[in-house]
Amino acid sequence: MNTPSSAQILKDDAAIIAGYQHIAELPLAVKSAHGCFLVDADGKEYLDFTSGACTMCMGYDRPQCQEFGSFPFPYASGAVQVEYAKALARHFPGGGPVKVGFGICGSEAVDGAIKLCRAFTKRSKIVSFAGDYHGTTYGAASLTSLPGRLSDAFGPMLEDIEILPFCDETASDEDIDNCLLELAYLDYESIAGFIIEPIQGDMGMLPMHQKLMQSIYGIARTWGIAFVVDEVQMAFGRTGPFFSIENYDGIIPDAVVVGKTMGGGIPLSAIIGNPNFMDSLGPCEHAFSMAGTAEACARGLAMLQQLDTPKMRQGMEERSSLLYQSLYALQEKYPEVIEKITGIGYSFALWIKSPQPGLDDDDAAVLVIRRCFEQGLYLMRLGANWLRIQPQFNIPMDELQRGLNIIAQAVADLRAGKLSA
Ligand SMILES: Cc1ncc(COP(=O)(O)O)c(C=O)c1O
Repeated sequence: MNTPSSAQILKDDAAIIAGYQHIAELPLAVKSAHGCFLVDADGKEYLDFTSGACTMCMGYDRPQCQEFGSFPFPYASGAVQVEYAKALARHFPGGGPVKVGFGICGSEAVDGAIKLCRAFTKRSKIVSFAGDYHGTTYGAASLTSLPGRLSDAFGPMLEDIEILPFCDETASDEDIDNCLLELAYLDYESIAGFIIEPIQGDMGMLPMHQKLMQSIYGIARTWGIAFVVDEVQMAFGRTGPFFSIENYDGIIPDAVVVGKTMGGGIPLSAIIGNPNFMDSLGPCEHAFSMAGTAEACARGLAMLQQLDTPKMRQGMEERSSLLYQSLYALQEKYPEVIEKITGIGYSFALWIKSPQPGLDDDDAAVLVIRRCFEQGLYLMRLGANWLRIQPQFNIPMDELQRGLNIIAQAVADLRAGKLSA
C-alpha cells in the first residue's frame, strides 16, 4: 500500500475528522516521533518545542517499563497502580499523607475535583480565576475563562461557578488591590472550593501574584474551603519545582490535579489529595472503565523514574537557564518584535508585536511560527499573539540551541519585513 503524503492526509482529515478535535494552525500530519522530534508523513523532521503540548515532557522515546499485563481490566486493584501512586505521593507538597485517584484526562480529573470539593464541604460554589484553562468536559469548561475556549453554543454550563479577576506577578498595586477586594466580597460560607491554575499556561505562562495566592489560601484555611490546584500542564518540574504551587511559600493544597505527561504517552490523569478530601466520594462516584490502566501506570512510573534523578534535575536547570538567557537576549535585541516574555523554569511565552504598519500582532505571531515550521521547528501559538515555548526536559543542549537559533532568525526576518502572509 502506498503511504499517503502529508497533503493527502490533511485533505482527507478535513473531510472525515471532526474539526473540534484539532488546534490546526500548522499543516502537520504526524507519522512518527522520536526523542524530541516529530516526523511528518513526508519524512520531514520537526524539533518539537511544545513537548507535544506538555504530554511528552521526557521526549517521544518510551523508557523501559515493568511488565504490565496484556489488557486493561477495569476497576480492579493492581501492584503497578499502587507503586505509581506511592511514587507520586512522595512529591506531594508538605509530604502527605495523600490518596491518589486515577483518571483518563485532565478535564475529567478537574470534574472529579469539583465533585470532591462539593462532597467534602457540603457546599456548592466553586471559584476559579479569569484566564484559567481547566479543560473541555462540562465541569472543567465551566471553570475555564481563557478567551476563545468557551462558546455560547453548548450552554448552560455548570451552576454555582464564580470567576474572579486574576493578577499576575507584574500587576500594579492598584490592580492587585482590586483583585483582593473582589475576593473580600465573597460569601465564604457558600464556597466549596477554589480551583486554581497557579501558573496560567494557555494564557501565556502567567504566575499568579504572590499576594493574591496567599490571600486565597488564607481564606480557604480560615473558612474550611477546599484549595485545589490544577497542575495538568505544569507538574513534573515544568516551572522548576515538581509542582508549580511550590513556587509559593508554605502552601499545602487539599489536592493537586495532574495529567498529560503523567502516563508516559498513554492517557492517564490523577487527583492526589489528603485522605479525608479524597474519601469524600464513595465507590464508583468518579470511576471510569479505562482509568488508571496498568500500562499507563507502568509507563508513567518509568517516565517518573527517568525524571527523578539528580543528573536529570541538574540538566533541566542548565537548559532552563539557557532558555531564559537566550530569550531575554533576543528581546533586548528586538524589543519592537518581542514586547514581553513571561514564564518561569522551563515554560516561557513570547508576546509578539507587529513591527509593520498594516500587520496586526496576531498575524505577526502566526508568521513567526510558520517561518519556524518551514525551518523544522514546531511551535504553537497560545491565545492571541503569545508563542508557547516548552521544550522537553531531556532535549540535548545542541538541539535546544538550534531551536532557539531558528526562533531568533524568524524574529529577525519578521523585523526585516521578510515574512509575508
Ligand atoms: C491547566 C490544564 N488543565 C486541564 C487541561 C485539560 O487536560 P486534557 O486536555 O487532558 O483534558 C489542560 C490541557 O491543556 C491544561 O493545560
